[in-house]
Amino acid sequence: MKNNKKIKWGIIGLGNIANQFAADLLLLQDAELFAVASRNNSKATEFAKKYHCPKSYDSYEALFTDDQVDIVYIATPHDSHAELSIQALENGKHVLCEKPLALSYKDVARMIEVSKKNNKFFMEAFWTRFIPSVKEILEKVNQGIIGDIKYVKADFAFYADEKEGGRLFDKNLGGGALFDIGVYPLFLSYIILGIPKEILAKSIYNSNGIDLQTSMILQYENAQSVLHASISSESDMKATISGTLGHIQLNAPWYIADGYSVFKEKETAFSLPNLGRGYTHEALECHNCIKNNQIESKLWSHQNSLELSKIVEGIKKQIGLDI
Ligand SMILES: NC(=O)c1ccc[n+]([C@@H]2O[C@H](COP(=O)([O-])OP(=O)(O)OC[C@H]3O[C@@H](n4cnc5c(N)ncnc54)[C@H](OP(=O)(O)O)[C@@H]3O)[C@@H](O)[C@H]2O)c1
Repeated sequence: MKNNKKIKWGIIGLGNIANQFAADLLLLQDAELFAVASRNNSKATEFAKKYHCPKSYDSYEALFTDDQVDIVYIATPHDSHAELSIQALENGKHVLCEKPLALSYKDVARMIEVSKKNNKFFMEAFWTRFIPSVKEILEKVNQGIIGDIKYVKADFAFYADEKEGGRLFDKNLGGGALFDIGVYPLFLSYIILGIPKEILAKSIYNSNGIDLQTSMILQYENAQSVLHASISSESDMKATISGTLGHIQLNAPWYIADGYSVFKEKETAFSLPNLGRGYTHEALECHNCIKNNQIESKLWSHQNSLELSKIVEGIKKQIGLDI
């Protein structure tokens, strides 16, 4: 691919996150929102009109076979990520797939295999990895600015009304707190401390077997993480990383922090606004990788997705989640 060519994006599954992502793509000079697909034709047409997109399709398959689409963004519920990513990759498309990549480690491994076989870029849309605050705190932690890390505290919680239904409360779509938002605090613990030696976790379920809230302790050789995810109450959504020389606090909500503070005797605050809603940063990472003929990102690699998925499997086992 020539370096000066605009990257042509296709989006499938035109719900909440697809809207946010599309709005962010419009902010990027070297991105073109070229095609969108929905299971519903009028929804696709309206979405295309709203975001000045030239093509719309009434099936995901039709978008996969559009020769002009470079990369497909998969914005459907979790349960369909694996099969749709594989289909797109088999059709020669690069793929950015929403988190969590799949509901099992086995499926994540399968998706990555297909990316390698087809030599196409593939990445989990872990947007938080690419926002300026997270990139910068990770560098500081690795430089030892707050000493040896002993403790990570992170949560992701909001109240969702069960009466309104939707994918969060639908087991067939991979609903519940762990898969939807629990992956965020797990992600933070993983990028700071790596793979835990031991996992403890407990959940509160509704009568349909949806985990409404899940609390987790990750035990490392010399550190611990205390993590929480809930769709039944709110939380402050600050994240703290504590070391032997001080601590860092990501501004709330930490998963899209617009800055952070380092506490060492006194507080020093850093302001790092995100571009747009924050999805621009992951899209730019896709562009860089595609232009450099990389099939994976160095910042959020295939191995990172595999390892995070293995940790999620560990939590699933602990809480007895049968999704
Ligand atoms: N990165 C983030 O910040 C972020 C935020 C929210 C969600 N997400 C992830 O993005 C994915 C989608 O979440 P969302 O909140 O956008 O969901 P949503 O609003 O329910 O939209 C999902 C879309 O997927 C399509 N779809 C395909 N099969 C479906 C089915 N069986 N049931 C319902 N919809 C189906 C529908 O689009 P069509 O009708 O157009 O085909 C639907 O509009 C999830 O995996 C979630 O984890 C990420």
